[in-house]
Amino acid sequence: MANPIVVRSLDEIRFWSRIMKEHSLFLSLGFTHDQKKLIEEAQQFIDVFERIEEKLSRFSVNSDLSQIRAFNSEVYQAAVAIWNYKRKVLGLTLRCEIISNNYPLLVDHISREAAYFANRLKELNEGVLAPRKDAIIQENVFFLKIMADHAKFIGHLLDPSERKLVDQAREFSHDFDQLVFQAVDLDSMRPQSETRPILSQFLDQNRVSVASLRDFKKTARELIEECRIKSNIHPLLADHTFREAERFLEIIDLFEASLQRA
Ligand SMILES: [Fe+2]
Ligand SMILES: [Fe+2]
Repeated sequence: MANPIVVRSLDEIRFWSRIMKEHSLFLSLGFTHDQKKLIEEAQQFIDVFERIEEKLSRFSVNSDLSQIRAFNSEVYQAAVAIWNYKRKVLGLTLRCEIISNNYPLLVDHISREAAYFANRLKELNEGVLAPRKDAIIQENVFFLKIMADHAKFIGHLLDPSERKLVDQAREFSHDFDQLVFQAVDLDSMRPQSETRPILSQFLDQNRVSVASLRDFKKTARELIEECRIKSNIHPLLADHTFREAERFLEIIDLFEASLQRA
């Protein structure tokens, strides 16, 4: 039988390497033409993660665990490197040394995703398969904030004349901010809040909201692809945020399953 650490490692790398590659593309498109050095660095990261994807395609679920661990370490280095680059861009932006079309919250957001990816690889190499039960709330805080941010990006990148969609995005932003606060409350009640009924209810609530945001992103993606709405949203960005919502839903199911087993 395939080693679950191998299976999960390949799955995380498949999902997040593509995400990292796309972040590099979005950053490069957001810089101004004089920010050549930053654009070049972004392009180098596209190459780095393309090579990782290429290497990934040569592994399978039956690959040797030691080889996978070495690959995880290699990808970990790349994830840390792109995290550093994103934090550098954030610093330049916040000190007003550059002005670009990449919102600071977006740069911070994609750096958090890189940190998450690096951390998952580190955990997998320590033998931690899925985020532990005691990390369920914290992991939800992370993903709920990611979803809240997405709603804000969509709202701010739509053309202001798309009033209805802007309103909808703002409502999602508000809903997810509330869920983040709720998750933070539960986190502060840990470990006493870690009972099965409380966690299960919390996951159920999150699932409902994430599914409805996912559907909204799907609709937005279709409208953008068919050029039926006005926005500054790259079609790939719409798809990207959609995939991240799908990922969160999968993780919620994973947690639910681990609660059932516990
Ligand atoms: Fe992302
Ligand atoms: Fe994201």
